[in-house]
Amino acid sequence: MARITAGIATSHVPAIGAAFDLGRTQEPYWKPVFDGYDWVKAFQQREEPDVVILCYNDHASAMMLDVVPTFALGCAEEFEPADEGWGKRPVPTVMGDPVLAAHLAEQLVIDEFDMTLMNHLDVDHGLTVPLSLMFGKVEQWPVRVIPLAVNVTQFPTPSAERCWQLGARIRDAVLSYPANLNVQIWGTGGMSHQLQGPRAGLINPEFDNAFLDKLVDRPDELRKLTRLEFLRESGSEGIELIMWLIMRGAMGYTVRELQRFYHVPASNTAVGHVVYRPLV
Ligand code: DHB
Ligand code: FE
Repeated sequence: MARITAGIATSHVPAIGAAFDLGRTQEPYWKPVFDGYDWVKAFQQREEPDVVILCYNDHASAMMLDVVPTFALGCAEEFEPADEGWGKRPVPTVMGDPVLAAHLAEQLVIDEFDMTLMNHLDVDHGLTVPLSLMFGKVEQWPVRVIPLAVNVTQFPTPSAERCWQLGARIRDAVLSYPANLNVQIWGTGGMSHQLQGPRAGLINPEFDNAFLDKLVDRPDELRKLTRLEFLRESGSEGIELIMWLIMRGAMGYTVRELQRFYHVPASNTAVGHVVYRPLV
């Protein structure tokens, strides 16, 4: 049967993608950021995952405000990098897994998560920058990817608890899939940042580090966080951390933290990255 073997979270800042694409990773500003991902690149070489369920958010690249799905599952054969205003990133097309995606959609709807099915979806930096960080520069991505886009751009965003529950149901759905697949689940976005308004530039390392601590062995405290608490403590874009809770909910209750990285700042954002192994 299929198994979720690891959970990974990372920030997904567009300027990290630009630094990567322009070959600037060794410059003094960027080197400490990219060094934080050396460990996971070696880990991925050993793990050889087959599929990644990649929880991220679209930034009005593929989904404008005319249609705003709360949870959207990428069911297509492939996904092109989105043009976010400066051309598509020069990265490979993302190959999907429509059969597993259909299974996830069916099981999740049975479990009362009514997913929007995306049979066409261009994927923006929220998805492609983490792929570059995990796998480096490649001719083809070494995994199939099922995008799961979460609405964090238009109120009302789903609650932290709802995201945890979605993760738990994704875990059940993967375990009921008969093919012998090595599946990872990723959550991207965060950590604290605010790109707009009077508090633009806000970063809150105290909140971020407490979040990183609690995510390991006190996740119940994070499941209770309200939208207002995210907004107040982690800035208007810190809400992207709810994608990390989908990942964590899919791990079961107990995890081993294999890797943690935290760095301030990259562009306007506090960069966080963790790798977990589920223990049950
Ligand atoms: C930045 C961070 C993000 O998560 C994002 O989606 C866009 C911009 C930034 O730090 O500039
Ligand atoms: Fe973002």
